[in-house]
Amino acid sequence: MARYAPQVALRPGYLARWLRSRSLPDLGVPNLGPREATPPTFFGAYGQWIGTPPPTWSDLAWLREQWGGPFMVKGITRPDDARRAVDVGASAISVSNHGGNNLDSTPASIRCLPGVVDAVGDQIEVLLDGGIRRGSDVVKALALGARAVMIGRASLFGMAAGGECGVTNVLEILRQGVSETLLGLGHASIHELSPEDILVPAGFAIDQKV
Ligand SMILES: Cc1cc2nc3c(=O)[nH]c(=O)nc-3n(C[C@H](O)[C@H](O)[C@H](O)COP(=O)(O)O)c2cc1C
Repeated sequence: MARYAPQVALRPGYLARWLRSRSLPDLGVPNLGPREATPPTFFGAYGQWIGTPPPTWSDLAWLREQWGGPFMVKGITRPDDARRAVDVGASAISVSNHGGNNLDSTPASIRCLPGVVDAVGDQIEVLLDGGIRRGSDVVKALALGARAVMIGRASLFGMAAGGECGVTNVLEILRQGVSETLLGLGHASIHELSPEDILVPAGFAIDQKV
């Protein structure tokens, strides 16, 4: 298992640069600009994103055609949107409210998962992200029909605490937690999981008949 190694580093170069410039360094986002050009700054790109109208379903169909490879639409919470993602030719969707960051009071993605799986689970790979903090969270999502989960903040917590080693440690904790939960449930593999493995309180799953 990777060992957690706290990383404390003094970086006089950062201080010197800050003293010289009198402003915080801006991050660059090289993947958003042409290959050889100076990359847009993070805040520049963010401002442009905020000012750009959200993509339409026909934009996604166009993008799908341009790309030609595996194509996941992230941020699906409703069965009707899940069906549209199938229609534009996506190969996967992630049931997600983007970690609850974009719109207050959106339902947790795990509550949206069963309705989406019912609607399109046999036509497209359904993943889930949002709120995965321990192995048993992974198991709950898989039992409710997700093919896989993604994590956001858990990996960042690890990175803040211990850099690359901290992220590895988070993945190891999750992996270990999945194994322990499977053991507790009496299963040899995640492929044996089904909704019968968990108790879902009445009204928990959001079954929007749309
Ligand atoms: C710092 C940060 C930045 C994020 N930026 C984006 C983004 O630009 N686009 C996006 O779709 N989701 C973004 N997300 C949401 C994640 O992709 C993901 O949906 C979310 O973190 C999953 O929830 P979790 O953090 O509880 O695991 C961001 C999340 C964090 C923590």
